[in-house]
Amino acid sequence: MQEVDRVIRARLYSEVPLIRQVGEYIIQSGGKRLRPALVLLSAGACGYGSGVHHHELAAVVEFIHTATLLHDDVVDESDMRRGRKTANAMFGNAASVLVGDFLYSRSFQMMLSVGSMRVQEVLADATNVIAEGEVLQLLNCHDADVDVERYMQVIRYKTAKLFEAASRLGAILGGAAPELEQSMAEFGMRLGTAFQIIDDVLDYSGDEQTTGKHMGDDLAEGKTTLPLIHAMQTGTPEQAAAVRHAIHEGGRADMGAVIDAVRQTGALDVAKRYASAEAVLARSALSALPASQFKESLLKLSDFAVERDF
Ligand code: IPE
Ligand code: IPE
Ligand code: MG
Ligand code: MG
Repeated sequence: MQEVDRVIRARLYSEVPLIRQVGEYIIQSGGKRLRPALVLLSAGACGYGSGVHHHELAAVVEFIHTATLLHDDVVDESDMRRGRKTANAMFGNAASVLVGDFLYSRSFQMMLSVGSMRVQEVLADATNVIAEGEVLQLLNCHDADVDVERYMQVIRYKTAKLFEAASRLGAILGGAAPELEQSMAEFGMRLGTAFQIIDDVLDYSGDEQTTGKHMGDDLAEGKTTLPLIHAMQTGTPEQAAAVRHAIHEGGRADMGAVIDAVRQTGALDVAKRYASAEAVLARSALSALPASQFKESLLKLSDFAVERDF
């Protein structure tokens, strides 16, 4: 991971000062670096030996992630991330969007160094699906009739796809047979799904000091996430109406009523159970993987995705 960090810093370089400023601002604020870890662990678990391609691809995946965050915070009008002001709050929307584009395109330059058409295909497909997921979510905003199936499609696309690509790339680097590559991809997809469900739980229950993000951003944007779907399905007619109203209106005026409905219907626990079920499927995808310290860490990641509070 130290080597990945070195690659990230080196590849962040641009002669345009604002790119360095914004890029370093968001990268230096840290982040969990989960997706690059997934590339390295998956590669190791599939028998990857020595080389540098795993570091480069781990950095590529983190750049793509960072680009989506820069864009996502503009779209979501978020003003806090990783414990500090978002790049858009600090430098403005235009700078965030454009530096996001820089990171996206830089990641495509970087992935060429691996010289594998298959790797390029996986990453081209993943970035395209992420964009589809974000647009799909935009279409679903302020729509209280979004059901579990439509919700799951959005989170598979916008979040799980990059986790899937990360673990698949590790498998490809490790020279995994097609069946194992598919299992690793399945692991990443399930892990990413669990991860996003918990992100949506933390938006109602997280401690801002710990998550580094503002609570309630999802409701403010009129996002029909899993806790709200459950609260509408099982709450009293009054609770369901309050949640529907809040989704239609967006903003923070109804936050109190929505949080009450979510708490009283046990919606956060139900959502956590969905996440646990995904984590179970993630773990079972690894059943054919030979035992190793890498596999152990992947299994621990599947626990972390559900139990995390940041
Ligand atoms: C945030 O991802 C965006 C989601 C998909 C929920 P992370 O929670 O992995 O963000 P960092 O990189 O650790 O800040
Ligand atoms: C993030 O979804 C997904 C992508 C960045 C593609 P969210 O909007 O839920 O992520 P946070 O909560 O802002 O980190
Ligand atoms: Mg967001
Ligand atoms: Mg979120």
